[in-house]
Amino acid sequence: MPNSSTSSPPPLRTAGQQLRRRSWAEPWKIKMVEPIRLTTADQRAAALTAAGYNTFLLRSEDVYIDLLTDSGTSAMSDWQWAGLMLGDEAYAGSKNFYHLEDTVRRHYGYRHLIPTHQGRGAEHILSQILIRPGDTVPGNMYFTTTRYHQEHAGARFVDVVIDAAHDPADPHPFKGNVDLAKLEHVLTTAERVPYVCLAATVNMAGGQPVSLANARAVRELCSRHGVPVMLDATRAVENAWFIKCREPGCADRTCADILREFCSYTDGCTMSGKKDPLVNIGGWLSLNDDALADKARNLVVVYEGLHTYGGMAGRDMEAMARGIEESVQDDHMRARVGQVEYLGELLQSAGVPIVVPVGGHAIYLDARRFYPDMPQDQFPAQMLAAELYLDAGVRAMERGIVSAGRDVRTGQHHFPKLELVRLTIPRRVYTQAHMDVVAESVEAVYHQPRKPRGLRMVYEPEYLRFFQARFEPI
Ligand code: F0G
Repeated sequence: MPNSSTSSPPPLRTAGQQLRRRSWAEPWKIKMVEPIRLTTADQRAAALTAAGYNTFLLRSEDVYIDLLTDSGTSAMSDWQWAGLMLGDEAYAGSKNFYHLEDTVRRHYGYRHLIPTHQGRGAEHILSQILIRPGDTVPGNMYFTTTRYHQEHAGARFVDVVIDAAHDPADPHPFKGNVDLAKLEHVLTTAERVPYVCLAATVNMAGGQPVSLANARAVRELCSRHGVPVMLDATRAVENAWFIKCREPGCADRTCADILREFCSYTDGCTMSGKKDPLVNIGGWLSLNDDALADKARNLVVVYEGLHTYGGMAGRDMEAMARGIEESVQDDHMRARVGQVEYLGELLQSAGVPIVVPVGGHAIYLDARRFYPDMPQDQFPAQMLAAELYLDAGVRAMERGIVSAGRDVRTGQHHFPKLELVRLTIPRRVYTQAHMDVVAESVEAVYHQPRKPRGLRMVYEPEYLRFFQARFEPI
């Protein structure tokens, strides 16, 4: 990938020298394409106004390069598409369920698999079976739907991620790590902690990884307090790739091997199959404890579907089992994270302020440094996502004050330190040329002399407001 296609790259070799660098390319070729179209500036202005300045409310046909999310947007392989034809659509006991169960056991290592329609379905069930009103759930930074389900079940979420995670410029290699002192404080002072929520990677911090050493230490600390650790495994394979690249002693191990060890420090996981596992829909809850798994199976039939399909068609379970197999291959991860890094390098070399180190699934733009004079309650990141769409039809997502929502007790906005816009890279979908176009558009918006004044929120939904809120320019 980093064999840039832009103008006159430096020569790879001068006479008589060895190659300075060998490029790599994706371990796949393209078999089918989906046309996309570039709109005019006037069309984009009209579409953005109709969408209330919220990129979630744009029609995807009006988007040129869609970096809203990496969730459910992956391209499936021919082997996954072939698997769709082998869907066993029996109501109960589909053979695809057993294939999925076997695959999850082999790669993630947990004993029980409870399928759900997507990640938040698993979060709902886990929160309902473990949390009692008044509980405290510590975690390495919040995620929107995860915290919602914890609070909905009556818990208070407490952030125990290391301080570096809240600083976009801190180069710590494992910014997703849990601060063990903060965690110990919660474990010793809170009345009841039903479980610790460990996310790998940490989405809201910029797709930042957790080290194996930190996961092991969290496990030891929680075992001493008799508290289980539940993993948000949504991007745990990307996390394993960072461990391979950054953690001493791990360079010669495979992602698959690291993933197994990482999960072994936890007691179960919630999973959005729409990310690492390379499918467009699906998820699961995994648990090691037999009694807890029984409780989860009792609830899954109420909210999701029978315990052997959980809201997925048989063919969806087959595609996910195959996607997991592909996702743990080192060659896949090198290209997946490598493409994100490529975009990050382009932006950094253009002086654009981004969160460093570059994370696994996205580049996060630091909206505060785009608009240093804009107060946070005029929604700088929401404004920046709108400006990016206006420039060239690139769709990004706000990850700042709008996403953070309101404090359930005081009703005031949460004011997160990070006010970010996420350029999220779908897996196996866009080429290096798309990344070049995105980088040029971001650079143009960053250097634009006329700075916007910000937005006011004119419609605010009660739950997970970022999805459907509407805004107007001030
Ligand atoms: N956990 C993490 C870390 C996530 O990023 C997501 C979804 C979920 C849980 C919930 O999973 O969407 O399948 O219900 N993240 C998407 C995103 C929406 O764009 O980052 P889900």
